[in-house]
Amino acid sequence: MSAADEPANLRFLDLHPEAGDFRAEVLEGLADTPKRLPTKYFYDARGSQLFDAICALPEYYPTRAEIEITQREAEAIAVDVGPDALLVEYGSGSSLKTRILLEHLRQPAGYLPIDISKAHLLATARQLARDFPAIEILPVCADYTQPIELPAPSRPARRRVVYFPGSTIGNFTPDRAEAFLRHIGQVAGPGGGLLIGVDLDKDRAILEPAYDDAAGVTAAFNLNLLARINRELGADFDLACFRHRAFYNDALGQPGLGRIEMHLESCRAQRVTVAGQGFDFDAGECVLTEYSYKYGREAFAALAARAGFAVRSFWTDAAGRFSVQMLERVAR
Ligand code: TRP
Repeated sequence: MSAADEPANLRFLDLHPEAGDFRAEVLEGLADTPKRLPTKYFYDARGSQLFDAICALPEYYPTRAEIEITQREAEAIAVDVGPDALLVEYGSGSSLKTRILLEHLRQPAGYLPIDISKAHLLATARQLARDFPAIEILPVCADYTQPIELPAPSRPARRRVVYFPGSTIGNFTPDRAEAFLRHIGQVAGPGGGLLIGVDLDKDRAILEPAYDDAAGVTAAFNLNLLARINRELGADFDLACFRHRAFYNDALGQPGLGRIEMHLESCRAQRVTVAGQGFDFDAGECVLTEYSYKYGREAFAALAARAGFAVRSFWTDAAGRFSVQMLERVAR
């Protein structure tokens, strides 16, 4: 598509997030004990597709629960966000839940989705620009864990509200989650808000199947990271010799805190070459690929408070599995 065919309310900013870091981070993680792999690289084109498939799985309740809450509370959320806000979304993916918000927000000054996956981000942003012609859409292709200078909307915003759904905050360790919330507070600025999806701690009988589904989609998603490393870093991982493993660890020594741990387990002793370097795996050795932390209501409120946010609204789905929370920056 040529620039002339772009919707008039769309302005794209590419900060080229992937230059160079992938190789260094993979080599560093594989040299560590225990071995680990960087999680943000899950989302190549195939990974983004598989993740959308995860969101539709019968076992994966978070997406449906979050949509249920967002639909039911859309008016209350719009009131909390207020008029003329710039909505900044971190890790927007397919922006499914955002559509519900954009339908209810009071004349938003703009929607600014930030995502590391360029093709997916642009396709989604183009569609949104067509579906919401009155809202300026300002997609930014970037690694949102790095400091970003955000483009200003054409119409000045009354406030910034960061939208961080999907319980992605759970993919940070609590220390890093606190630091990241503080960073979000800076991006939101004085008077800013944070609308965030937080998965709640609960029975492992519900949690574990959500990360180890019967159809094997989550396993394919996890293994796709190895396929990407093979393709982009010239590695020779044998995908048939690694197995997806996911379990709930609630023995972290803190009430209201547990985590799903996702690993890739080597089925046998083997040596893998990545970018010219050899790495040895024992039979049964696990490579950590992702954590998904689950919080009790109080535990998350305490974390938010340490990062300079107060909880203004707290909503859950009917089954009480998932929460959407409106946080306000506390003036200090
Ligand atoms: N934010 C999602 C979650 O923690 C990410 C996720 C879902 C995920 N399923 C996964 C990450 C499987 C890695 C592997 O629920």
